[in-house]
Amino acid sequence: MHTPNLVEARKRTNNKVLIKTDDYKLNDNQKKLGKNKKYFIKTYGCQMNEHDSENISAILSDMGYAKTDILEEADLIILNTCAIRENAHNKVFGLLGRIKHLSYTKNIMVGFGGCMAQEEVIVDEIMKKYKWIDFVFGTHNIVNLPNIIEKAYTNKKQEIEVFSCEGDVIENIPVKRDSKYKAWVNIMYGCDKFCTYCIVPYTRGKQRSRLPKYIIKEVEDLIKNGYQEVTLLGQNVNAYGKDLDIDYNMANLLEDVAKTKINRVRFVTSHPWDFDDNMIDIISKYDNIMPYIHLPLQSGSNKILKLMGRRYTKEKYLNLFDKLKEKIPNVSITTDIIVGFPNETEEDFKDTLDVVDKCKYDGAFTFIFSPRIGTPASKMQDDVSLDIKENRLQKLNELVNKYSKENNDKYLNKIVPVLLEDYSSKKKDYLKGYTDTMKLVNVKADSKYLGKIVNVKITSVKTWSMDGEIVN
Ligand code: 5AD
Ligand code: SF4
Repeated sequence: MHTPNLVEARKRTNNKVLIKTDDYKLNDNQKKLGKNKKYFIKTYGCQMNEHDSENISAILSDMGYAKTDILEEADLIILNTCAIRENAHNKVFGLLGRIKHLSYTKNIMVGFGGCMAQEEVIVDEIMKKYKWIDFVFGTHNIVNLPNIIEKAYTNKKQEIEVFSCEGDVIENIPVKRDSKYKAWVNIMYGCDKFCTYCIVPYTRGKQRSRLPKYIIKEVEDLIKNGYQEVTLLGQNVNAYGKDLDIDYNMANLLEDVAKTKINRVRFVTSHPWDFDDNMIDIISKYDNIMPYIHLPLQSGSNKILKLMGRRYTKEKYLNLFDKLKEKIPNVSITTDIIVGFPNETEEDFKDTLDVVDKCKYDGAFTFIFSPRIGTPASKMQDDVSLDIKENRLQKLNELVNKYSKENNDKYLNKIVPVLLEDYSSKKKDYLKGYTDTMKLVNVKADSKYLGKIVNVKITSVKTWSMDGEIVN
């Protein structure tokens, strides 16, 4: 049994990152454990988690399990959880209630993984109050799932395997992608920024970049398999390569990925601190690097930015923002903003609104500060009442929505490229996809256009999406 430990998780050493190419192995028993059984997986949180679930799915599939989207049909249920905010926690515990009920009526195996599994308090609670959960696995332990599941079957006691470590890079983990047209590609794991509110550096270990040769090979294989788009994934992609022994950075990687000629290259998430001019030049130089950047602001107040440990000022952020707008034609920019951070005054909040007014973002994810146990901000005196926090969030959302709609309005009657990736969930006879600038469009189109990048004329515009029709 390995339980998580936040003090261990915080440690950073100069130890070399191990690149493991043969860690994933299955014995004969494990290959048939899932025979005639189905698995259901529920994923919470960021794209990193979505992609981890694609790895978990591939592992389960290697073990003989078939996938189901119906909870009640499953023999094995996996929760891949997120620890970033309290409401993610609440949702997970809500679903656990449903699963417990289900376990009265049928024999199921339940696994709890992801970022919440890296938290001491959560695992303590699982050991005390959720003894019926069969196994718990951390973000570093996915590769070992065949052993964990095998043990859970044979030992018939709760298996807990959560490493609190800096982490390695595992290159041979399989993947079963949700889309046939666009793919997530990890370029790095973990984070060393330690923003004071954020749990990620504790749950995902230190920053470890993958070697460029493995990334390029993965992209080339995706092209061979008909993929149109890759999104390069990392908590902090601009810092890519800083931990490698070779002289190679994010600008180099973006250029090499662009040169593979894949139709669309995206990347998330950017940190304003490491966004250098070279990278901006490369983005504007290559047509297949999409003009879309997610650039978290978090706060517009210099005092709060400092308390958050963000390492930039409002002025530096605005400077970078203007440069991106100037140098990358037609770029759309979205952001993340937290309100109600400890000590945030009305003045500080006004500074945030001021940046939103200046940047007129294409979109923003907005959050109320949520203290995460073990992080420095959770120990700061939280002197902003919930009423005030909610009020600020509402004001911020109104402003964000106004600019989102205004930006979308500019697309009316324009012709834009859209990668049609799936059936529209909202409208019959429509497909959905994203523009190069990451706008969601519902397009009246036959299913033969699935997986194609088509020119679409925008016929109507809303705050969150648009409608359009294909033009020749
Ligand atoms: N409270 C509220 N929001 C948070 N985020 C990260 N940690 C917290 C927290 N403790 C937000 C940040 C980040 C996004 C993914 O989630 O805005 O960019
Ligand atoms: Fe969290 Fe900051 Fe790292 Fe982003 S850069 S994952 S907010 S610590």
